[in-house]
Amino acid sequence: MNKIDALTKPGIQNIPPYVPGKTSESVKEKYHLDHVLKLASNENQYGSSPKAVAAIKEAADSANIYPDPFCMGLRKKLGVMYGFDDSGDNVIISAGASGILSLLGEVFICEGDEYVTCEPTFGALNSAVKRNGGKVISLPVTEDQVFDLDAMAAKITDKTKMVYICNPNNPTGTAVDSDKLRSFIHSMPEHVITVIDEAYIEFASDPAVESMVSEIKEGLNLIVIKTFSKIYGLAGERVGYTFMNKELHSIMQKATSVFVVGRTSLAAVMAALDDKEFIESTCERIAEGREYVTKELTALGWKVWPSKTNFVYADSHLDTAILAQELEKKGLIIRGNFKYSRITIGRMDQNREMIDIIKTVMAEGNVPAAE
Ligand SMILES: Cc1ncc(COP(=O)(O)O)c(C=O)c1O
Repeated sequence: MNKIDALTKPGIQNIPPYVPGKTSESVKEKYHLDHVLKLASNENQYGSSPKAVAAIKEAADSANIYPDPFCMGLRKKLGVMYGFDDSGDNVIISAGASGILSLLGEVFICEGDEYVTCEPTFGALNSAVKRNGGKVISLPVTEDQVFDLDAMAAKITDKTKMVYICNPNNPTGTAVDSDKLRSFIHSMPEHVITVIDEAYIEFASDPAVESMVSEIKEGLNLIVIKTFSKIYGLAGERVGYTFMNKELHSIMQKATSVFVVGRTSLAAVMAALDDKEFIESTCERIAEGREYVTKELTALGWKVWPSKTNFVYADSHLDTAILAQELEKKGLIIRGNFKYSRITIGRMDQNREMIDIIKTVMAEGNVPAAE
């Protein structure tokens, strides 16, 4: 053990580093390309709300002044929007949804606590659990690539501290049945905290995919996470928001950093919340793009799971990692580090370009079949 390892908490020593999507710049440099299309990080390719951009510019003039220390303005606004009172005491603001996922591990997970989830899924909470000495119990998603709530329920023990359901799920794009999820939440024993990650739910454009925010009641250990990074197109501003009952809130708010998000970020998200037009048009255009991409990939012989998000998860029947590499050489970045390919839905011009590049690579025949 080297000197620094000896000083480090055991939970931190063993976690693998997060692998982010490749940047366009690094791929341009590597393959000497002028143009790269990055559809790997589920960003909103329609940009941000023009109202948010104007608010950022205006707030930049006061960058020398600390922001609202506890984000009260934003908490109150979100609380009322989602049917709570105007105290702001059901809402936690964090540096992206990633911020709260980290904090949940820090606040609740003790050595030996069990945490139940499915895989593949977004890994930030798994990682936070491990950092804090918890044990991750990760079950496979069903054949349909959906969170397996029955299998999760069967793994709840006296040691379970937390369960995590990403709905709709990243990277599979699928959503669980809302009635089933509601029953699952209500069936959890008192010593279990249920965390639902709804980072993508606004893209579902399907009333059957219901948010669980309305289930939050005193006495129910339910935490529902959302973000401004996806539908609101503000990934660069780093703001997440999370709903919970007041009892849980009083604990989480104590643990949250003061001034957790900056002045320009707060201004941006406050303005974005009022821009219904941007949200609706993003939603419609993503649904249209998703339909187009699903149809085109299916025509190429791929299996595409029904997506409720701004990305698709699809089985090309080829080696997923090598396919991603070959696409990169042609200037297209997708995610190739899961079992199947995950591709962000872009603007229609980008979706067409993406399909053309995929067709070219498939026609070249350099990617071996999946094992
Ligand atoms: C399911 C899910 N949750 C949370 C996050 C974190 O989002 P952010 O930290 O940008 O708000 C992501 C990011 O891709 C995600 O896919």
